[in-house]
Amino acid sequence: MVDMSETRARVLRGRLLCPRPDEPRVDLIADGLLVIDAAGTIVSVGAAPPDCDEPESYPGAVLVPGFVDAHVHFPQTRILGSASGPLLPWLERSVFPEEARFAEARYAAAVAWEFCEQLVRHGTTCAAIYSSSHAIAAELLFTELERRGLRGMVGLTLMDRGAPPELLLAAGPALTACEALVERWHGRDADRLRFCVTPRFALSCTPELLRGAGDLAERHALPVQTHLAENLDEISATSRAFPGAKDYLEVYEAHGLCGPRSLFAHCIHMSEGAWDRMAERGAAVAHCPDSNFFLGSGCMQLAAPTRRGLRVGLGTDVGAGRSFSLRQVMAGAHDAALAVGTRVTPEALLWHATRGGARAIGLEATVGCLAAGYEADVVALDVPEYVQGEAALLDAIAFRRDAGPVRATLVRGRVLR
Ligand code: GUN
Ligand code: ZN
Repeated sequence: MVDMSETRARVLRGRLLCPRPDEPRVDLIADGLLVIDAAGTIVSVGAAPPDCDEPESYPGAVLVPGFVDAHVHFPQTRILGSASGPLLPWLERSVFPEEARFAEARYAAAVAWEFCEQLVRHGTTCAAIYSSSHAIAAELLFTELERRGLRGMVGLTLMDRGAPPELLLAAGPALTACEALVERWHGRDADRLRFCVTPRFALSCTPELLRGAGDLAERHALPVQTHLAENLDEISATSRAFPGAKDYLEVYEAHGLCGPRSLFAHCIHMSEGAWDRMAERGAAVAHCPDSNFFLGSGCMQLAAPTRRGLRVGLGTDVGAGRSFSLRQVMAGAHDAALAVGTRVTPEALLWHATRGGARAIGLEATVGCLAAGYEADVVALDVPEYVQGEAALLDAIAFRRDAGPVRATLVRGRVLR
């Protein structure tokens, strides 16, 4: 009989896949018990005793930590799958016209609902999210994340050049809007929600705005997210826009935007020296292979950051990514590794989709492990009972593209609806 004293609000029983905290390994507990207290913190994890009479919580399912989407664009929810060209033409043709609609509160609120619904349906408990450049849309997204019980960080996407006028916001008002969002939302609900400083990319920001963003991040110790070295035309345009910088990364370094709280998406076309500098500064990477395939951007060398000890999470990068599913991204990361002549195991892929993402976005003390002391963000994935043993389970989770919807998505032990 399981001890159900007052502090133990919930017990989950089932097959558990438990990522290790600091190495890309996952341990299977074939019949495990996960005990969660009333606050949603994991109290203990271990094998069920032989005489355990606790019923299986989600029969047939496998319990893993909630997926962490390390890079996703909320205002691109409705243009997912728009194949209009490589990065820069795609931004102009598909992204900017859609993001302009987020000036309107009713539209933004409707899509915030759809976006959060997709996260929950795909077992994503936590995400690093770009909003549009409109403060109202960021506000409405925070509101919906709060209501649904999701975890995440959200940034007002900073753009004061390089896009249609209706998307631009000058440095002064943009930074004032960020301050207001920080004040209202950063640290909300015992740190379930955070504000993230989000210059879209170097090309969409003047040096003044980049410097202001760096100062804002420094002043409040905020996380920072942006795009880096995604596409060759983007890189050429960036070197023309910032002729004093020796490479793309130096643009961010020079404006106080590259440090241990920084998260860079894509990082495809990087020199060894740039990877070394990122490692020295302790920055993290959001690897977005499906987006990179869809836009034809190239394949990131996953081994480049991992062998240097950089933190790496996986990102859907919706809408350049074609799915909200981190499982699809795991499969894509496998294929991207093959395309550059390397391999990544399904064990490492699940680790990056959960624990790796938590570390990459600065939540290493909070989520990504099924272990005592972590918050109980958990997803129940249906894997047929005939799939037995750790290797087969990991293969099924990573590579069965026709997997059904998740059985349940929990944050702090509470099932999200
Ligand atoms: N670079 C600048 N903005 C974007 C975006 O919205 N998506 C992707 N994939 N890359 C970008
Ligand atoms: Zn992106």
